[in-house]
Amino acid sequence: MTTGELILRRPDDWHLHVRDGAMLRAALPHSSANFRRAIIMPNLVPPVTTSQDARAYRDRIVAAVPDGHDFSPLMTLYLTETTCPDDVACAFETGLISAIKLYPAGATTNSDRGVRDIDHVMPVLERMALLGIPLCVHGEVTDPDIDIFDREAVFIDRVLRRLCERVPELRIVMEHITTEEGVQYVWESGENIAATLTPHHLVINRNAMLVGGIRPHYYCLPVAKREKHRVALRRAAVAGNGKFFLGTDSAPHPDGRKESACGCAGMFTAPNTLSCLAHVFEEEGGLDQLEAFASLNGAAFYRLAPNEERIRLVKKTMPFDVSAKIDTGEGMLTVFDPGFALYWHPDRTYRADPGEAATKTRS
Ligand code: DOR
Ligand code: ZN
Repeated sequence: MTTGELILRRPDDWHLHVRDGAMLRAALPHSSANFRRAIIMPNLVPPVTTSQDARAYRDRIVAAVPDGHDFSPLMTLYLTETTCPDDVACAFETGLISAIKLYPAGATTNSDRGVRDIDHVMPVLERMALLGIPLCVHGEVTDPDIDIFDREAVFIDRVLRRLCERVPELRIVMEHITTEEGVQYVWESGENIAATLTPHHLVINRNAMLVGGIRPHYYCLPVAKREKHRVALRRAAVAGNGKFFLGTDSAPHPDGRKESACGCAGMFTAPNTLSCLAHVFEEEGGLDQLEAFASLNGAAFYRLAPNEERIRLVKKTMPFDVSAKIDTGEGMLTVFDPGFALYWHPDRTYRADPGEAATKTRS
């Protein structure tokens, strides 16, 4: 039985890890089934640092899209201290890439080749500002003296504010913000500063990871923070402010690499992202803002047209069930468990009437 319905433009994912090889083939269909486009993270081993790498990776992704799915990867380059401004400019102007990703060296998975000294990448950032190329930022300092729960807030104060003063025209996406300081910074900044929010940071706080035992499948970076921050992120998501949009940061790792003495950061949320989001937006009384968050704001920031196609989510009395584990060929992969039942289901049979324009909500 259906108790609610939501029709919205097909969403896009403005921050996604799809990996390569067998993991790519296992993970990608869960995104391409729901999303029309996704900003693809470049932190492969070795990373995607040149336009040549990006072209080859794009072709491998396109080859892995299942028949019947309409999905375009939006490629990024991994910024290193030897990135060539001309290569970046040419890759953007020819439409090969949509953004550049800044990882502070050592901040997260496969970030060793990232940036140690921002001075060393200023020529690239200045060229990006001139051309309007977005910089996607993993906003955490790596200073060992800074507590891991404070690394985002300190990054804003020490790195981001100065960067914005030095290159005020640079268009920046603070990726996967996790703190009220992040929300406030983005809210108060100019139009060229935006942020992505992940479904998991809207659903869990740090207790999920640490209470009753260490739960590695809730470990990601930036790490989930205390409850007041989750509340701030939820408010930002439903506020209808165009600077906040969906970037799932769905980041698959085989269970063997998560369930380990030194487990990897990342949660695989792609299979139930839309169900989680509808649940959260409904709890916040903001279902009418879900389309802006998932389907409009990101496209506008990236200066792309929103998708024309519509999808339908239905609320049923039976929970939406995705397999808890997926066999990837590179080991089992655990799907994000929000810790509650999900009643919003994507309706895979839905085809919008031609010309249907209005977004409908009923719940
Ligand atoms: O949790 C995360 N996983 N955060 C990141 O920044 C990287 C990602 C990954 O690649 O696994
Ligand atoms: Zn990520």
